[in-house]
Amino acid sequence: MNNSYKQLVKKYSSVLRDVTHIPQKEVEILLLHILDKNVIWLHINYNEICDKKVEQKLEQFVKKRATNYPLEYITSKASFYGETFKVQDGVLIPRPETEILVEKAESILKNIDNPKVVEVGVGSGIISVMLALLIDDIEIVAVDINEKALALAYQNAIKHKVEDKITFIKSDIFSQVDVKNFDMCISNPPYIANDYKLPPNVKYEPSCALFGGNVGDELLKDIIRVTSNNNIKYLLCEMGYDQKKPLEDFLETFDTLSVKFYKDLEAFDRGFEVEFK
Ligand SMILES: C[S@@+](CC[C@H](N)C(=O)[O-])C[C@H]1O[C@@H](n2cnc3c(N)ncnc32)[C@H](O)[C@@H]1O
Repeated sequence: MNNSYKQLVKKYSSVLRDVTHIPQKEVEILLLHILDKNVIWLHINYNEICDKKVEQKLEQFVKKRATNYPLEYITSKASFYGETFKVQDGVLIPRPETEILVEKAESILKNIDNPKVVEVGVGSGIISVMLALLIDDIEIVAVDINEKALALAYQNAIKHKVEDKITFIKSDIFSQVDVKNFDMCISNPPYIANDYKLPPNVKYEPSCALFGGNVGDELLKDIIRVTSNNNIKYLLCEMGYDQKKPLEDFLETFDTLSVKFYKDLEAFDRGFEVEFK
């Protein structure tokens, strides 16, 4: 006998109990993804009978999710800063804490006429696309070493109609960029130490987006160095919760007007803003 949506949500929630603390919500998200419906529709139709083909698809997705494969890779989308972005296997899934970095950048950039920004490590494009949506006259150069990321970021720029404001370049930091007259460099680079044992849910994400070197902060330090060498006034970066002290010490060796570290919503040190002289 066919099950109702309600019965299916109950049945498959138990399968996901070990991989997420919101199993029921995740099963609902998978169901809505298959049906291409919204949550209001589901709650109105909770007691209706589900088609067998839909149930089979749901079972397949739930089994995949039960291996810790990320939900966002199954649904091909993620929310960031109130917007929906395309997500794809092989490119980092947006994290909510990166919204703080965007907020901090916006508050500086809104006071600069026709600001020019370079983003190192564009990934899915969330930072560059959001800044392009928030700042009217902005020009952005977005780089990444991962071609899959560049292609996805371009798709997200098109989705949000800001592709004219962003130039995408395959580049190792600034190696392929003509770094003239930029006001800001922004980056959420890989910053995990190479030998760090990743939690099971993160192991499906690309290592080039996660590992920053033997210590972890090597790429961050390179970005600080090249930003200063190229006379870019502002640098805003995300970092690991345990990297404040070494980066603070490193930044002391540069001519800066101000260095401010910030915390994420869980009160972990999460990033910094630098104004160079
Ligand atoms: C942590 S992900 C951030 C992605 C996206 N900006 C975000 O916040 O979700 C870091 C990105 O940096 C890219 N990357 C790693 N090393 C790089 C390098 N040397 N130069 C440019 N990009 C790099 C990775 O491919 C990855 O897309």
